[in-house]
Amino acid sequence: MTTAAADSKTIVLITGATRGIGFETAKHLSTSPDQNYHIILCGRRPSSVESAITILRSLPNLHASTTFEFLNLDLTSDTSTISAAAAAAHIAAKHGHLDTLVHSAAISSSFLHTNVTDPRAPESVRENWHSILDTHLIGPALLTDALLPLLSASQKPERKIIFVSSGLGSIPYTFNNNNNNNDDDDDDDEGAANSRSGLVDLDNVTSKYTEYSASKAALNMYAKHLAWRLENTKEGKTLGDTKGGHEAKKWKVNVVCPGYTSKTTGGLDGFRGKQEPWEAAETVVRVVQEQGEKTGTFRDKEGEVPW
Ligand SMILES: NC(=O)c1ccc[n+]([C@@H]2O[C@H](COP(=O)([O-])OP(=O)(O)OC[C@H]3O[C@@H](n4cnc5c(N)ncnc54)[C@H](OP(=O)(O)O)[C@@H]3O)[C@@H](O)[C@H]2O)c1
Repeated sequence: MTTAAADSKTIVLITGATRGIGFETAKHLSTSPDQNYHIILCGRRPSSVESAITILRSLPNLHASTTFEFLNLDLTSDTSTISAAAAAAHIAAKHGHLDTLVHSAAISSSFLHTNVTDPRAPESVRENWHSILDTHLIGPALLTDALLPLLSASQKPERKIIFVSSGLGSIPYTFNNNNNNNDDDDDDDEGAANSRSGLVDLDNVTSKYTEYSASKAALNMYAKHLAWRLENTKEGKTLGDTKGGHEAKKWKVNVVCPGYTSKTTGGLDGFRGKQEPWEAAETVVRVVQEQGEKTGTFRDKEGEVPW
């Protein structure tokens, strides 16, 4: 059974949509002229997602046909109501397909390395590693697996999977783009990574963001495997076939670095970049909306990022 409202629309699911870049991505899409979106916003806490949807619905420039849906999802949970499997079952029953999947949810690894007395802070180094790999790699992989059959059922010319990652997951980006003689004051935590044309503060990154960076590197490799698999293997071709012998549809699996972004709307802890989340989301939206571009790329607003 499918809903009439979402039938002709591009159905986009966004994880981490309660705030930051995920929320701003939903905002851009919902106000895009000449577009017709049904946006499924995912979050761990129902109240946060509902608040996000309330804000989006009250936007003065909201596209008249944009519709929203709330989905309670925790990437690190197998609990029946908030798991990837539950999300897939819900979308299957309600819509029968999905067109675009945007993975934006993330956490920071700075908890253990600062004096933050945040109740969410993991209790041990092992727990910190588990939670960050679970959120950035295992959760997105399991969610993707669960949603592949629904993406396969999309009738759009391109099925899209977008991983919002980070240049900090790239060794050349991090280590060939640094200046360790900068004057940053350690106390103000500035400069985890600047924009592509800026500099990475290796002292700060290697002391607080090792787990974050390593998990994003792992995510990047996962995404590259997935892109290749869907484009080249029998499994990908089978999933790409459309019923009735029409031309196989295209899979577009790409990785995006949105750039170092301010925490004004709650961005990752300790990240205080100069651009606003809405600017960072523009890079994500470009990849969501482009047609005919390559699959298996890693890009930021300046172009391809070295893996
Ligand atoms: N901010 C930057 O400077 C920057 C730079 C490069 C790359 N990025 C990447 O951009 C993406 C967005 O970052 P951001 O700054 O917008 O982050 P953010 O504002 O901290 O938002 C993170 C989102 O992820 C959700 N989330 C966290 N853990 C989750 C889980 N287990 N299951 C489901 N949702 C979960 C949060 O939901 P709750 O409301 O439930 O906490 C929140 O909606 C991330 O992938 C990040 O790595 C950010």
